[in-house]
Amino acid sequence: MLEIDRIYQADAFTLLPQIESASIDLIICDGPYGVTTNPWDRISNIQEFNLKLITIFAEKLKEGGALYLFGKPDCIDFIDYRPFLNLQAKIVWYQPSRLAQGRINYTNNYDLICYFIKGQRPKTFNLDAIRVPQLVELEHRRRCERVPSVINGKYGKTKFNEEGKNPGDVWGDIKQLTYKSKKLVAREALNTIQKPEQLIERLVKASSNKGDLVLDPFAGVGTAPVVCKRLGRHFIAIEQDQKFVQAANERLREAEYEIAGRLFDW
Ligand SMILES: C[S@@+](CC[C@H](N)C(=O)[O-])C[C@H]1O[C@@H](n2cnc3c(N)ncnc32)[C@H](O)[C@@H]1O
Repeated sequence: MLEIDRIYQADAFTLLPQIESASIDLIICDGPYGVTTNPWDRISNIQEFNLKLITIFAEKLKEGGALYLFGKPDCIDFIDYRPFLNLQAKIVWYQPSRLAQGRINYTNNYDLICYFIKGQRPKTFNLDAIRVPQLVELEHRRRCERVPSVINGKYGKTKFNEEGKNPGDVWGDIKQLTYKSKKLVAREALNTIQKPEQLIERLVKASSNKGDLVLDPFAGVGTAPVVCKRLGRHFIAIEQDQKFVQAANERLREAEYEIAGRLFDW
């Protein structure tokens, strides 16, 4: 049994078996992509590696629990994950600012975030917590609401939600961190390592509730644990690199001060 709200410095594959079966509400898996020269990213067959993870995660998730698996566009190609988890969406995290250096092919400028659930229905999908602004102006929206085919469509009366819309499965509104980002923990944490908090926040808000348990087996510099702390979720995090664990713990302490400060202001 592992303690909660702790970042373990270890190889994920040695600790994962110690997690209780069907105890996890949400897994954020931002592990190796198999494309960089980082020693931990040298995976000979990333699809087989991901299938191995999926089989382990399926056992650890509660019924209806969610897994978000990060990778390159081919990260789950030609593997059969269906006996273990149900793929609900392939979210494209579009990064238009990525250098377009391709000469004989189209440059890849997105990461894939594969959204799986255990069983047939997600136990949590908090759409209202992750709505994004409607891109059409208010006047146009109101005009749409008077169009009979819109309001009497297949799904009954359609009313545009003033709080915003479903973010869909192509996310171009969240930028990858750059060398200049104030949020960047260390220069080497760029690109393959540190993810923007806003991105992880959307996943955590959508697929968990306050008090739920989130697993991050490849925690890097601790973005998911920090987001969980701020949003009142518990976590179990694992990261093998001691420098990253240290940076993650510092970030967690800062988040704790921030939360304590907010309570004090009250
Ligand atoms: C893409 S990064 C995660 C970044 C993280 N989401 C963040 O925002 O900081 C992947 C991390 O997985 C770690 N890692 C790779 N293989 C591992 C393993 N077998 N066990 C534990 N950590 C591992 C690497 O050291 C790296 O920090």
